[in-house]
Amino acid sequence: MKHKTYPFLDLGTVNAPYAAALKDAAARVIDSGRYVGGPENEAFESELAALCDAPYAVGVSNGLDALRLIFRALIELGRLRPGDGVIVSANTYIASVLAVTDCGLRPVFVEPDAATMNLDTSLVDSACSSDPGIRAVLTVHLYGRACFDAALAEAVRRHGLIVVEDNAQAIGADAAVPGLNGSVRTGSLGHAAACSFYPTKNLGALGDAGAVTTADADIARAVRALANYGSDRRYHNIYEGFNCRLDPVQAAFMRVKLPYLENETAHRRALAAVYDESITNPLVVKPLLDTPDGCVWHQYVVRTARRDDFLRHLEANGVGYDIHYAVPPHLQPCYARYGHLSLPVTVRLASEVVSLPVSGCTSEDDARAISSIINDFC
Ligand SMILES: Cc1ncc(COP(=O)(O)O)c(C=O)c1O
Repeated sequence: MKHKTYPFLDLGTVNAPYAAALKDAAARVIDSGRYVGGPENEAFESELAALCDAPYAVGVSNGLDALRLIFRALIELGRLRPGDGVIVSANTYIASVLAVTDCGLRPVFVEPDAATMNLDTSLVDSACSSDPGIRAVLTVHLYGRACFDAALAEAVRRHGLIVVEDNAQAIGADAAVPGLNGSVRTGSLGHAAACSFYPTKNLGALGDAGAVTTADADIARAVRALANYGSDRRYHNIYEGFNCRLDPVQAAFMRVKLPYLENETAHRRALAAVYDESITNPLVVKPLLDTPDGCVWHQYVVRTARRDDFLRHLEANGVGYDIHYAVPPHLQPCYARYGHLSLPVTVRLASEVVSLPVSGCTSEDDARAISSIINDFC
């Protein structure tokens, strides 16, 4: 008898419920005759701004470009200068760091907290005190969990840091910020935030897409101009810009999916709750489950010191998985200049993390079955 298998992620299945509406959306763009910019982009931007509680949203080509455009805008506006230090969690996806170095800024790698797997915010104050060239922090909301707390807010205030959010993995997440009444949405926690709509993201396009959200009108204007050849009006170029515009076909697709993001997030939270309750194997460390749960569970990431054996066990039992990420940025060949840095927590996490299925392809019963397979690992 063939065993049931549990795919890690299958984008065809994820998008199947939206297929008819997506085809209508594509047809709408084709019929409109507007293939660059236009009403689909404008509507998507205002829907996204509302979702992120941000006054401005600018659609761009992808998440990496969103980050690059934010840093370039900050440089053009005279708020950052090439060579300035930018704190970034050392266990992030490489795109966070690529944006910093592409703009001639200096990444300052800070260790993550092993419990949250986000930047260890208690280290930011001392990092800034020992390196006066640090002017900004790129806070990465890794795996869907907001990275912003009282320690970070205090370090930002004390050192006058610019806060850029890497919101690629956490659209719709909330941060409980002590001292504030209630929670704050990712995308509106700092001076500007970058979203990614890469197809595997919680709000996934059917190709590359991204956006910048901000409450700062100058940053919004500069990003929009930089993404359009540096042009603030037709044939008038104030910056040496790029062509990093959002494709209106992708905007139309995301307008189909955006109203369902809250449901999708509720499903991810329900799966995380099932895993949290059902996985009891002491060899497997579960991620923190906050209450209330502001995390949007882009990934549900467990850790085990015996990862190779664990992966063989998952494979033997038909459980799909992924590793985010096996090699941290400072150990990538392109960043050999940072390879000497001692970042033991980052390196340990990279050797232990395993992402379990947590998308629309997985049911709560699947999560129970996967948990019981995990509990059999010894
Ligand atoms: C944390 C993080 N930052 C940035 C990016 C870059 O986004 P994109 O793939 O849209 O360029 C990604 C996603 O791939 C990401 O996960």
